[in-house]
Amino acid sequence: MHAPSASASASTTRLHIGSDADLAWVRHEVRQAAAGLGFSLVQQTKLVTAASELARNTLVHGGGGHVEMTHLEDGAGRGLRLAFTDEGPGIPDPELAMTDGYTSGGGLGLGLSGAKRLVQEFTLDSRPGRGTTVTITDWTTVLPAARTGGS
Ligand SMILES: Nc1ncnc2c1ncn2[C@@H]1O[C@H](COP(=O)(O)OP(=O)(O)OP(=O)(O)O)[C@@H](O)[C@H]1O
Ligand SMILES: [Mg+2]
Repeated sequence: MHAPSASASASTTRLHIGSDADLAWVRHEVRQAAAGLGFSLVQQTKLVTAASELARNTLVHGGGGHVEMTHLEDGAGRGLRLAFTDEGPGIPDPELAMTDGYTSGGGLGLGLSGAKRLVQEFTLDSRPGRGTTVTITDWTTVLPAARTGGS
């Protein structure tokens, strides 16, 4: 059971990704968390769509893994960070993988690139042979000056 709270401390939930049923559960939990943080309906849907693609990649390409959902608070707004991790084959050429239409097999090749467009922050960290972590973050309040710089 969840304890929706307004506390400033970060809380993290880990969900296993090992089956299609888990994908549905991830979508449900992300929607609940985003709604609970006060994200607009449009923003909730964008985040859930991105999460759904990344979770499917974790399952299909990564051979399963997990997602960690972390509630953030930085004074200017509240955020939700989702980190999808697997210990699969990794992505040898991340730049290529991020290209619209690139798929290593049978997909549309729009999952990674599409997910990146749907959220405010996106990072891909992959080591061939070791696995992949893709992290996305959305905030309730966007401060362009403070949040457009990435590193
Ligand atoms: N977690 C992962 N582990 C290993 N390779 C991955 C992972 N995620 C993505 N990839 C690689 O990046 C490619 C592009 O991913 P993307 O999600 O954009 O397309 P796709 O999964 O092939 O098709 P779809 O449009 O159906 O999602 C994949 O084909 C795969 O080779
Ligand atoms: Mg995909």
